[in-house]
Amino acid sequence: MATTPPVKIAVIGVGHLGKNHARVLRELPSAELVAVVDAREKVAKEIAERFHCEALTDYKQLKGRVDAATVVVPTRHHFEVAKWLFENNIHALVEKPMAYTIDECTKLIDMAKKQKRILQIGHIERFNPALKSIRNAMKTVAFIEADRLSPYPFRSTDVGVVMDVMIHDLDIVLSIADSEVEDVQAVCTPVLSKRFEDIASVRLTFKNGAVANITASRISDKSVRKMRIFCADSYLNLDFAAKQAWIYKKTPKLDQADFHVENLDVSNIDNLMQFVFNDLIRVEQVVIGEEEPLKEELRHFIQCIQKGERPEVAGEEGLAAIKLAHEILRVAREHYEKHVPAEHRKW
Ligand SMILES: NC(=O)c1ccc[n+]([C@@H]2O[C@H](COP(=O)([O-])OP(=O)(O)OC[C@H]3O[C@@H](n4cnc5c(N)ncnc54)[C@H](O)[C@@H]3O)[C@@H](O)[C@H]2O)c1
Repeated sequence: MATTPPVKIAVIGVGHLGKNHARVLRELPSAELVAVVDAREKVAKEIAERFHCEALTDYKQLKGRVDAATVVVPTRHHFEVAKWLFENNIHALVEKPMAYTIDECTKLIDMAKKQKRILQIGHIERFNPALKSIRNAMKTVAFIEADRLSPYPFRSTDVGVVMDVMIHDLDIVLSIADSEVEDVQAVCTPVLSKRFEDIASVRLTFKNGAVANITASRISDKSVRKMRIFCADSYLNLDFAAKQAWIYKKTPKLDQADFHVENLDVSNIDNLMQFVFNDLIRVEQVVIGEEEPLKEELRHFIQCIQKGERPEVAGEEGLAAIKLAHEILRVAREHYEKHVPAEHRKW
């Protein structure tokens, strides 16, 4: 049986995240890391040496030499680089946020379609085993709470916390609410940044009644990436950073017609907490493998190229998250301008 040849690939931008793309691609048997590209020659050379590939300083030098590339440059360059890749028949994984504007995202989707190229967006949390492990337990989502906090990164300063950080949760929430957004309430404020918001608090209401409260901060003194999902008959607790998940489910006792928690005589139950979280509600810590989300994400990209399949997070999903982020920023800006006098505005 003929084996599929490895996909010839390059990483464009090998800073904080891109060097990890290079490491993972070098490890994947289905990929051949041909080159890394970085505008900073010293950085390109150092990473190329580490991962045994060519160092380039201009992505246009990739013409005719690779099947695919990952775009890991700052957001302001995503559109220009991805556009060039499609013009040159190269499949692209574009890091999140997909691009600055809705128009840029739409153009990239159209170009990828026209050129029959794969376009995947780097919403890496979709490949986090914590989220993957609870997908099947998630039925009739009623309420979602998400917190994503981190210290100031001193990178990604060309976007605010909504585009940089909250975008992960916007994509996840859109993928699990299974309904259109009906209402957006949002408050944002800058703290350290001059041009962008550093904290955002958002409440989304979906047409099916589901509600999501999402908080993001990039001036926190600790890192938190957590989500709680309340469904009709279960509660799912996810820790993306720890790659752990817990499923809370009602025991059959609670559904018995003659059982009423209000009528219980609890005077002779020693440990009420244990009673609730044992007899009435079962807590299961999901056993999660050691897989690295980035490896799963890049393996998926390569597989989509080899099999001609649609990626789980394609351009359309990237665009949906960008559209929602823009709406959040519009609503938050309106709120800010209404409540902060012009002479005190910093955003
Ligand atoms: N999916 C995630 O969880 C995640 C995490 C971090 C960053 N990102 C995204 O990855 C992208 C890069 O972020 P980062 O933190 O690695 O930034 P970074 O600043 O650390 O690295 C960017 C690199 O791109 C290089 N570069 C800039 N313009 C270039 C050009 N035109 N051609 C070639 N190289 C160029 C820079 O020299 C730098 O080395 C951003 O879009 C960011 O949002 C995603």
